[in-house]
Amino acid sequence: MNLRTDAPIAAAVTPNEGKDADDAIGVPLPHESANLHVSGEARYTDDLPELAGTVYVALGLSRHAHARIVSLDLAAVREAPGVVAVFSAADIPGENNCGPVIHDDPILADELVQYLGQPIFAVVATSYELARRAAALAKSDDVVRYEPLEPVLTVAEARARHHYVLPPQRLTRGAPAERIAQAPHRLAGEFEVGGQEQFYLEGQVAYAIPTEQQGVHVYSSTQHPSEMQAVVAHMLGWPAHNVVCECRRMGGGFGGKESQSALFACVAALASTRLARPVKLRVDRDDDFLITGKRHDALYRYEAGFDDDGRLLGLRVEIALRAGYSADLSGAVATRAVCHVDNAYFLPDVEIAALSCKTNTQSNTAFRGFGGPQGALVTEIVLDGIARALGRDPLDVRLANYYGIGERDVTPYGQRVEDNILAPLTARLVETSDYRARREAVAAFNAKSPVLKRGLSFSPVKFGISFNVEFLNQAGALVHVYRDGSVLVNHGGTEMGQGVNTKVAQVVAHVFGLPLAQVRVTAADTSKVANTSATAASTGSDLNGKAAEAAASTIRERLADLAARTLGGAAADVRFEHGQVFGEGGAMTFAQLVGAAYLARVQLWSDGFYATPKIHWDANSMTGHPFYYFAYGAAVSEVVVNTLTGESKLVRADLLHDAGRSINPAIDIGQIEGGFIQGMGWLTTETLWWNRDGRLMTHAPSTYKIPAVSDTPAAFDVRLYANENAEPTVFRSKAVGEPPLLLGFSVFLALRDALAAAAPETRRAPALNAPATPEAILMALDRLNTPDGEGTSRAASNGTAATDTNSPSPSPASAPGAT
Ligand code: MTE
Ligand code: MOS
Repeated sequence: MNLRTDAPIAAAVTPNEGKDADDAIGVPLPHESANLHVSGEARYTDDLPELAGTVYVALGLSRHAHARIVSLDLAAVREAPGVVAVFSAADIPGENNCGPVIHDDPILADELVQYLGQPIFAVVATSYELARRAAALAKSDDVVRYEPLEPVLTVAEARARHHYVLPPQRLTRGAPAERIAQAPHRLAGEFEVGGQEQFYLEGQVAYAIPTEQQGVHVYSSTQHPSEMQAVVAHMLGWPAHNVVCECRRMGGGFGGKESQSALFACVAALASTRLARPVKLRVDRDDDFLITGKRHDALYRYEAGFDDDGRLLGLRVEIALRAGYSADLSGAVATRAVCHVDNAYFLPDVEIAALSCKTNTQSNTAFRGFGGPQGALVTEIVLDGIARALGRDPLDVRLANYYGIGERDVTPYGQRVEDNILAPLTARLVETSDYRARREAVAAFNAKSPVLKRGLSFSPVKFGISFNVEFLNQAGALVHVYRDGSVLVNHGGTEMGQGVNTKVAQVVAHVFGLPLAQVRVTAADTSKVANTSATAASTGSDLNGKAAEAAASTIRERLADLAARTLGGAAADVRFEHGQVFGEGGAMTFAQLVGAAYLARVQLWSDGFYATPKIHWDANSMTGHPFYYFAYGAAVSEVVVNTLTGESKLVRADLLHDAGRSINPAIDIGQIEGGFIQGMGWLTTETLWWNRDGRLMTHAPSTYKIPAVSDTPAAFDVRLYANENAEPTVFRSKAVGEPPLLLGFSVFLALRDALAAAAPETRRAPALNAPATPEAILMALDRLNTPDGEGTSRAASNGTAATDTNSPSPSPASAPGAT
C-alpha cells in the first residue's frame, strides 16, 4: 500500500500531537481481521460449521421479464432427486414481502413476474447440486406457465410513458429558465451513465437455524441485521423478539446488502421454520446477478446558461434513474442524487428533477454513493462541455464555479456549506500533481502523436454525510469490561471490509487507555443492540464510534470514581493511559482497577447511544439540513487512449482526500484507493447489458469486467488532506466509505479530454457516454470526426439561434413530468 500523508498532516499517521505513542487513535493499525483475511481463517456466513441435518436451498427464477403466472405445478420439482421440500408464495404464513420502504417486493412472485430472474419458488434439497438441478426445472413449461405481458425494458421508454415506481422529485431555486435564456452562452445536451453491479466477492447468503419456542436464528450476510430481523418476523407473522439476526462480517456489501439480503434471509428462514431444520441459501454468482438490484443507471437532459468565465448562471437537469421493477431504496437514492448535483459548485438558479423510472428489470438499490455519484456526474459533464465551448482549461471553469466562503455558499437545498476546504485542497493537489505543467506536456504529446492520445483531468468531490432520513441517524453500542481487564464491544454497525470494527475498537481502546489488542469487537447481533440502522451512507464509524465512545466513557467514569477514592485526587483528574490508571497518589493497572471495581460491585458494562444532531429535511420542498457535514476530495488522472482500437489505460492518478482527523489512516487510504478504483470501473469497463427479452447477459466475471489490480495506475499517489471535522464527530474524523468513489470521475473526464484532443478544432465535448468501453470510445471518435456529427452537447451564444443544432431539443422543459 502506498501509505503517504501530506506533509502538514503527519499528525494523522503518527499519533496526534500531544498524545502518547501507543494511543490507539490516529494510528495506521492493520484491520482487526487482516491476518484472518490473509490466512483464510476469517469466517464468512458460508464458512460457519454446519449443524447436522442442514439442507440447502436454490431458487426457481422467472424466464420472463413481465408475465402473468398462469399455472405453477411443482410436482416434478418435488419428485426430483434429493428434494426435501418446495415452497412458493402460498407457503408464506405472514406477509409475502421484503420491501424496505414501500411494500412492493414479493419474496416469491405470486401471479405476476416483473423481471427476468425473479424468484418464484424455493427448492430445498440434501445438497446444493441437487437443489440447483431441481430449481432449474423452472425453465420447463410444465412447471411454470406464463402469459407474457409487454415489458418496459429501457429507461427512455419508462420516461416516455411516465412509468415510475415513485413520484418524481423536484427541487427548484430561483428562475433557472429565465437565467439560462438571458445568459451570454448556453449549452444543452443529454448524457447517459450505466449501472453497476456491487460485485461483493462474497455473494448473498443466509443460514437459518430454528430455535426453541418458535424462534429462528438467521446468520445473514447483511448490512442491516435489524431490517432482516423485521422482514423475517413479518414474513412469519411473528413478533420481532422471536428472530435473531447475526452477521460477523461480509465479504463486501457496497450497498448491495443493505436491503437486498432480505429475500435470501426470508427464504432461508421460511424453509428452516417450516422444516424445523437448519437451512442454508447461498446463491451462485450468476443467480446473484440475475436476482439482485444494482446501481441505478441514468439518462440525463441538461440545459445551462453561463458567462464568459464559464460561471454557471442557470442550470436545469433531469435525471431519469432506472429503479427497476419496485421501489426498494430508489426514493432515497433519487433524493441523494438531487442533493449531489451541486457537487462542489454553487448553482445560483437551478432546477433538478429526479425520476424513479419503473422498468421490468432487477430492482435497483444502494451502491456506494447511493445516487450521489449519479447526481454529481452530470454537473461535471456540463462543466466539461462549458470549458470546451469556451476553449478554457476545465480546471479554471471548475474553480470559477466553486462554492465560496461567506457568499455563494448555500446549496440548492438550502443548507449552507460551512466547512468548505475546496480551494486549499485543490491548490494543494494542483501543486503536488503538477497539473499545469502536465497539461502542457499532454498537449505537446498529443500534437506529435496521431494515434495515441493522452488526456488529463481534475475533478473535485463534496459529499454530504448523514442519512437524509432523520431517524436513521442513530446508533447503539454495548461495552463489557471483564474482570481481567479485557473488553468486549458490540455495536450496531456491520463489518464489510471497510474497517468499522477496527475504528470502533480504536475508539474504545482510547477511552480506556488500552492497547488495541485488549479490545475485541463481536458480531453484529440484533439480540445485543436493538433497532439499528443499516451500515450505510458512510456513517458506520461516525454513528457507532460515538455510541461506543459513550458506553465506554460511562464505564470509565465509574472506574475513575473508584480510582480517585483508592489513589487519591479528583475523579476528573484520573488518567487512563498505557494500560495504567493514574491518580494523584499513585497508579495501578487497568486490570487491577477493574478487579477491584468488580469486588466493590461497580457495574462494568454499559450501553451507549448516539443521535446525530442538526439534521432535518422537508421532503416536499426538498430543503433542509440533510447532512451533518461534508467530506471533500479531489483527483487528477492521466490516461492514454489508442484511437485505433479504443483501448485506454489510466497511467497516473493523484488523489487528495479529506477524512477529517483520521482515526486510522491505513484504513482510510485503503477506502480512498478502493473507492476511486471502483468509481473508475463504473465509468470505464463495467457494462450491464440486457437482451431484448430483458435477460441480463452480463452476469458473471466472464462478461462483466470489474477492475483488476492490473488496472490500478503505475503511478498512484494517495494522500489524506490535513483537516479536522468542524463538527464534534468521533475524534473529529470524517466518514470516508463512499465519497472517494466520485474521485473516479477524473478518469472518465480524462478519457473525454484525450478524445477531444483527437479533434481539437471542433470545440465540442466528445459524445462519450459512460462506461467508456473501447466500443464507446470508438463510437465517440467516429462522431467527433464526422463534420456535422452530433455531440452529446451543443453550445450556443446569445444571438445565435438556439435551433442551430441538428439534435432535437433535449431541454428539460420538454421532459415528461417536468412541468
Ligand atoms: N469497503 C469495503 N471494503 N467493502 C464494502 O462493502 N462498502 C462501502 C464503503 N466501503 C464497502 C466499503 C459502502 S457502500 C459504504 S456505505 C461504507 O463502506 C459503509 O461503511 P462505513 O459507514 O463504516 O464507512
Ligand atoms: Mo452504502 S451504498 O450507503 O451501503
